[in-house]
Amino acid sequence: MSNNPLGLRGIEFVEYTTPDPEAMGELFRAIGFSLEKTHRDLDVDYYRQNGIHFMINKEDEGFAADFREAHGPSICSMGMRVDDAAKAFDEAVERGAKPAEGDANADFDFPAIYGIGDSLVYFIDKWGEDGNIFDDLFVEHPEPQTVESKGFYRIDHLTNNVYKGKRDEWASFYKDIFGFEEIRYFDIKGKKTGLTSYALKSPCGTFCLPINEGNEEKSQIEEYLREYNGEGIQHIALMSDDLLASLDQMEGGPVQTLDIADEYYETVYDRVPNVTEDRDRIKHHNVLVDGDEEGYLLQIFTKNVIGPIFFELIQRKEHDSFGEGNFQALFESIERDQERRGVFDD
Ligand SMILES: [Fe+2]
Repeated sequence: MSNNPLGLRGIEFVEYTTPDPEAMGELFRAIGFSLEKTHRDLDVDYYRQNGIHFMINKEDEGFAADFREAHGPSICSMGMRVDDAAKAFDEAVERGAKPAEGDANADFDFPAIYGIGDSLVYFIDKWGEDGNIFDDLFVEHPEPQTVESKGFYRIDHLTNNVYKGKRDEWASFYKDIFGFEEIRYFDIKGKKTGLTSYALKSPCGTFCLPINEGNEEKSQIEEYLREYNGEGIQHIALMSDDLLASLDQMEGGPVQTLDIADEYYETVYDRVPNVTEDRDRIKHHNVLVDGDEEGYLLQIFTKNVIGPIFFELIQRKEHDSFGEGNFQALFESIERDQERRGVFDD
């Protein structure tokens, strides 16, 4: 237990809020999430795809409403699976976390602490095969919207953006309170700007949490921080076992992905030769590839879809990096997009 002080077991839910829940619902359905339930007492919708649980909080008052006011479309809380929620909360506070207990404004009763950007981190100890909070607190939605799963079944990682100089502080938050371990460090340089990033792995081993810090005023990270009006989640990576099939299913839908320069595909297989998927389909879908002798991953990034937040869609084959080899390509793709938008013009 010493390396997992809170008894962390994974991510149970992500709670979103937005001034336009209709658009967000459409986005979720396009990625394969079905609207199944609504909260018994609160105006909160529950979307599910396999083991991934999303909520959209539409309450007019309360924590999510205030968060929405401050940040626009955003992620106002996450629920962490733990063995014992009360114990996890006590231990977290003992280790220096800021308790959200007694915050009369919180929308849910679960023990909670403040996380990045003063979003909430709830501790949830009813999950998995024993039933869950969605069985207990939610009822069938009066107008459910069921869509076919697009094959996403787990959150692989969530990447945070923080202010310049704050990366170490947030890395310590996750290391000292939750027992995350630092697994990688990156330094990415684009043509105009750069970023550095730490990647942390959860003590339960079920997800990772990279933290990005921007280097310059016009960097992608700073742009995010301005638009989001604070620190927060930059992207959530959803895992599929057959990414090309997932993308085939999403084709023609509303979800737009980042373009990749054609030259990328001229050299990528020198770097990652053992990819077995069809290379034409990989290029057709703008999928990125990374790996080593042991294995590889396929990944693709959506454009910003929730304020400045985007999704990554990922498939892994014996390879657990984040596609560092692609950070450069991704960074440059976003920089091209910034360039098109005239960010560097003055
Ligand atoms: Fe990622």
